[in-house]
Amino acid sequence: MNRFRALVAEQNAAGNYDVALKELSNEELPPGGDVVVDIAFSSLNYKDALAVTGRGKIIRKFPMVPGIDLAGTVVESTDSRYKPGDRVIGLAHGLGELHWGGYAERQRVRGDVLVPLPPTLSLEDSMRIGTAGFTAMLCVLALEHTGVIPSDREVVVTGAAGGVGSLAVMLLAKRGFRVAASTGRAELEPYLRELGASSIIAREELAKKGGPLQSEKWAGAIDTVGGQTLATLLAQTVYEGAIAACGMAGGAELNTTVFPLILRNVSLLGVSSIETSMPKRLEAWSRLESDLDREKLASLSRTEPLSKIAELSDEILAGRVRGRIVINVHD
Ligand SMILES: NC(=O)c1ccc[n+]([C@@H]2O[C@H](COP(=O)([O-])OP(=O)(O)OC[C@H]3O[C@@H](n4cnc5c(N)ncnc54)[C@H](OP(=O)(O)O)[C@@H]3O)[C@@H](O)[C@H]2O)c1
Repeated sequence: MNRFRALVAEQNAAGNYDVALKELSNEELPPGGDVVVDIAFSSLNYKDALAVTGRGKIIRKFPMVPGIDLAGTVVESTDSRYKPGDRVIGLAHGLGELHWGGYAERQRVRGDVLVPLPPTLSLEDSMRIGTAGFTAMLCVLALEHTGVIPSDREVVVTGAAGGVGSLAVMLLAKRGFRVAASTGRAELEPYLRELGASSIIAREELAKKGGPLQSEKWAGAIDTVGGQTLATLLAQTVYEGAIAACGMAGGAELNTTVFPLILRNVSLLGVSSIETSMPKRLEAWSRLESDLDREKLASLSRTEPLSKIAELSDEILAGRVRGRIVINVHD
């Protein structure tokens, strides 16, 4: 294959950028990478939608192929860790922002952004997980490393019906945690219970402003929402509990006090998937491989063609996507 299809973002005269599907040749692949991958699937994360629609400052170099996730098969490599035929996953590490990413049938990437596909996962499974699921796993590991263990008290997941949230509910439930799923979509209660939630809490309840120290409710939390929701979680987490904060679907500000930290020993754990070290990446993928029920994983995702990326991006930014969207880059 010398010619392949890619979604390309190019600056326009208005100082903005346009995104369109184009046919490229191997010679047009960016220099600097050491592994060429034939991509089978990518995925759609919140950040991808911001990049595709231009509603967030994600792309930092033009022309750019967006897509922060990719999964495929190595076709050429000068990196001793990879050889043709190896199945690999690439997430974050500047893909789709500074380096050409996953919305293409072929890509040249730095070996450092890749990890081997865990043997029992399919390429499609790995993109059902994608950056969203990987981040959910990092959050679970962060809580565990801080000493949050399964008990009668619930761990709350916010933005529970979204990508990170759905995977977080499933991963926590699998490890024996009781999970409260917080959602703005009450109609998705059966879906969240199927993933393992033991109770459902309305989004507005956590978005209400209250005192800095409220009655202790949660053993811990995985927060994808930020803003007032995160402030409420801090106020309601038990002594020695912890909150893994990874998102800002509801706001980036944080107005609170130090009381939960200094009077209740509550830990606020920042989680970023952007530059995760290799040992941590391997630990997270190994746990994802062992902990995820493949049938449930398939049931929380749908596979869509790359040609529909603009409308799918609008859908996720409007908060209408349930679970995960895998992108078939050949369609
Ligand atoms: N730190 C990292 O490395 C990292 C990695 C991946 C994602 N993220 C961040 O995590 C967040 C979630 O990402 P995602 O890919 O899971 O996105 P997503 O699939 O769109 O899920 C976001 C969920 O948040 C809830 N939500 C949406 N708008 C809201 C609002 N205004 N107020 C309160 N809740 C709202 C909705 O859940 P309900 O319908 O259930 O209420 C929505 O499904 C984003 O902010 C993303 O940038 C961070």
